Amino acid sequence: MTRVVRTRAELREALAGAPRPVGLVPTMGWLHEGHRSLMKRARREDATTVVTIFVNPRQFGEVADFTRYPRNEARDIAICESESVDFVWAPPVDEVYVPGFDTVVSVGRVAMPLEGAARPGHFDGVATVVAILFGLVGAEHAYFGQKDAQQVMVIRRMALDLALPTEVIACPTVREADGLALSSRNVHLSAEERAAAPVLHRALVAARSRSESGERSGEALRTEMRRVLAEERLANVDYVSCADALTLSELDHIVGPCLLSLAVRFGPTRLIDNELLE
Ligand code: PAF
Repeated sequence: MTRVVRTRAELREALAGAPRPVGLVPTMGWLHEGHRSLMKRARREDATTVVTIFVNPRQFGEVADFTRYPRNEARDIAICESESVDFVWAPPVDEVYVPGFDTVVSVGRVAMPLEGAARPGHFDGVATVVAILFGLVGAEHAYFGQKDAQQVMVIRRMALDLALPTEVIACPTVREADGLALSSRNVHLSAEERAAAPVLHRALVAARSRSESGERSGEALRTEMRRVLAEERLANVDYVSCADALTLSELDHIVGPCLLSLAVRFGPTRLIDNELLE
């Protein structure tokens, strides 16, 4: 039986006697198979599973994007129940950002390129809310989707630097049969845009295959991704990247692990995806 709690105090009380270890799955709701895979992993590894549902206003640049973000709490709670989640924390804004709230957690270099450059302030919002969640839940483990690869890196850096005791665990991206990575934003795609969206994954696969055939030039892999994306009329490219998997600096020559990533707009909807080359 899933228990839904709303305040910081209720959450603390609920977790006081909970069996350890505790697994945390932070979400912004509109749950899909990707979130289910995180919950299943937590259920396997932890004695108590906590899902948080909070559309975090501080990580959205434009108010319109925040307002447009899809929400359906009743459906989300039913999904948590079907995954045997123990606690759902679905707080109002002032239980997360308490009156007088005046702290920002700002991660440095790893938060600057890619999504950080495209969405100023985004990672400050993410790091701040995740620091609050880590503090409140005190989980042994927290699970995040590898689809947001830079987010995982930012949160890992923050947890290490601030000595937060929660271990950050990245879980594989879950995809539709045609390769499109699951995302709450996919719901905004028109039928035509939805049909075009798997081009993100095709571009990554094409670049990976070039790399597997021995291509070591970062620019050649970026060009390959741009070439595949250009085949899709509805795709407006925000960025393509072939970067060092530890620092995220763009690579001329690939020697170690590298992260291929891209951000593409379909009308007003912006999608991201990535592929790690070990
Ligand atoms: O990935 C998300 O859904 C959000 O960025 C997170 C980690 C829940 C923080 O609001």
